[in-house]
Amino acid sequence: MNTAGETGATPAAMNALPPAARTEVARAVAALRDGLLVAFPTETVYGLGANARDAAAVARLYAAKGRPADHPVIVHVAHPAALARWAREIPSAAWALAARFWPGPLTLVLKRAPGVLDAVTGGQDTVAVRCPAHPLALALLEAALAAGIDGVVAPSANRFGRLSPTTAAHVVAELGEAVAVVLDGGPCRVGIESTIVDLSDGPPRVLRPGMIAEEEVRTCVGAQPAAERGGAPRVAGTLAAHYAPRTPLELVAPEDCAGRVAELTARGERVGLFAPRALAADCVAATRRITAPETAAAYARDLYARLRELDESGCTRILVVSPPTGSAWRGIRDRLARAAHGSTQR
Ligand code: TXA
Ligand code: MG
Repeated sequence: MNTAGETGATPAAMNALPPAARTEVARAVAALRDGLLVAFPTETVYGLGANARDAAAVARLYAAKGRPADHPVIVHVAHPAALARWAREIPSAAWALAARFWPGPLTLVLKRAPGVLDAVTGGQDTVAVRCPAHPLALALLEAALAAGIDGVVAPSANRFGRLSPTTAAHVVAELGEAVAVVLDGGPCRVGIESTIVDLSDGPPRVLRPGMIAEEEVRTCVGAQPAAERGGAPRVAGTLAAHYAPRTPLELVAPEDCAGRVAELTARGERVGLFAPRALAADCVAATRRITAPETAAAYARDLYARLRELDESGCTRILVVSPPTGSAWRGIRDRLARAAHGSTQR
């Protein structure tokens, strides 16, 4: 297989790393070659990686996550050009999005190329591909490619249905022994999962909102908003119990926050509150109070770590004040709505 055009003469991302990190990446590539699982940071959340061409490794990945076999996973690649290895009939809009947003928090769903494993696509005729923007992820993907592994499937490195991990410590807490190597790249910069755009059939459609806003996608290629799409959802994230902490989570409007805290605490509930500064300061009856960041970018970056903190704080109820409705907040509101919905399903 000729990979020279994709790798270039030297693995640039690898060479940019400090020596200790290079050693870790080399260990991770060796693990991938052995069919084992490796966790690595991306700019969105940590991924749990396996060689996308190794059916046994992919099966191990599903088992480690406790993920149902019909839920497809995202193939992570080192370079946009690798899209052609995984997808067929790639429309110009896909290349335009890749050129504009990759490496970055965007996943493209396209018709799958021949030979892509059913385990990767969940048996569908489409495949999801992403080139992540994190130095360790890119170094891993480049080094893997140089070792003959041209794609790494990586769902978020959490147990199925739980909050995605945004630090290496979260990954270890969730998956521990199941992972051969955990690459530690510190906290993730974006904090919620990538925006997913389906280009496999007709006009581009956003399947999962993320921190690349629909408007940005539309400006690039004319995608329709998620609300206008028809047909059954094909994204695992649309399942009720997805992205949920263990503690029941409830969303509350800012004006109802103080009253709800009073009501719950009167009932003997221990409330963990995630609210804007003024409300967090006022609601002294809450057992644990965390101030929510003011900008969408900072909020997304902190969200899962803060929810984990509240989940582990011994509270019996997590109360989150609904964030603003602007387009920059859509991905955040989507995750919070799922977490709240997931809570009511248990
Ligand atoms: O930011 C991210 O996308 C992170 C990092 C690790 O890259 N990954 C991630 O993977 O969120 P995961 O497995 O937790 O979510 C992948 C989503 C699922 O909702 C899945 O249904 C959807 O992508 N997906 C994968 N392949 C698909 C396909 N062929 N058609 C439609 N949706 C697909
Ligand atoms: Mg996930």
